[in-house]
Amino acid sequence: MSGGRALFDVEPLGGPLGAVVGGVNFNRQSGPALFAAIQEAVTEHQILVFRDIDFTESQQVDLSSYFGEIQVHVLNQYHGTHPGIFMISNLGEDGVPIGEHPDPGAMIWHTDGSWARIPGYVTMLYALEIPERGGDTDFANMHAAYEALDSATKREIETMRVMHDLNDSRRRSGARVQMSKKQREAAPPVEKPLVRVHPLSGRKSLYLGEHGCYVVGMPEAEGRDLVNNLNAHASEARFVYTHQWRKRDLVMWDNRSTMHRATLFDTARDRRVLRRTTVQEDGPI
Ligand code: SIN
Repeated sequence: MSGGRALFDVEPLGGPLGAVVGGVNFNRQSGPALFAAIQEAVTEHQILVFRDIDFTESQQVDLSSYFGEIQVHVLNQYHGTHPGIFMISNLGEDGVPIGEHPDPGAMIWHTDGSWARIPGYVTMLYALEIPERGGDTDFANMHAAYEALDSATKREIETMRVMHDLNDSRRRSGARVQMSKKQREAAPPVEKPLVRVHPLSGRKSLYLGEHGCYVVGMPEAEGRDLVNNLNAHASEARFVYTHQWRKRDLVMWDNRSTMHRATLFDTARDRRVLRRTTVQEDGPI
């Protein structure tokens, strides 16, 4: 149980990762002590679920800012009114469902911002409108996925580096709208360690997802196979929690120790609108 106990209740979800946080009212609670308790809880549980809460855009920006600088996403077509707000919405300008997922790139396993020189740390997603069925988010525990590898594999991959590329993963995801030249130039491929150590907990994790393309210094096909095998291992059911959204849920996760993906829903009939902020790490890993 985390040290947030004095400020709120933390109840583990009972699966491979995640906890429900109760007793927080963002209309009455804010400030560094609340932030510190939330940070401790999200490091320990990797995903925090807050149910039935009011969480305005400015509260989301404020709380996110305690964790660090909010990422201004290179895919600027998703920007909300604040440049750090990323809107995941299947509604057109007329407010009617457009019949396709707003961001097919979110439907493949990924770690937010692993493609960026300064990657994502904590992401917050707040549910404004939720489909009747589907539209869940799956989360994988990358600490547990690393720890479950045999010693020989751990030794083999310990110092490997993987090239991450948003443009490449977006193409592979089959997104209809591909990145513009300007967006590609702003997000060139970057190398990241395959195994990383969480700076707060000291635990190791696999740092992967589909933004990872190939292993640096290894023949491309062989490296791609390794990336595919490790992604498949990390997304086995034993490491995964599926979040079934309710309106007014806030879900917060630590990208240093998780990967996630959005799942299908009836995009022509149902409305799904989520407001996201991703906070950047302090610097490159
Ligand atoms: C995301 O990838 O950040 C969004 C996930 C979702 O829409 O469920």
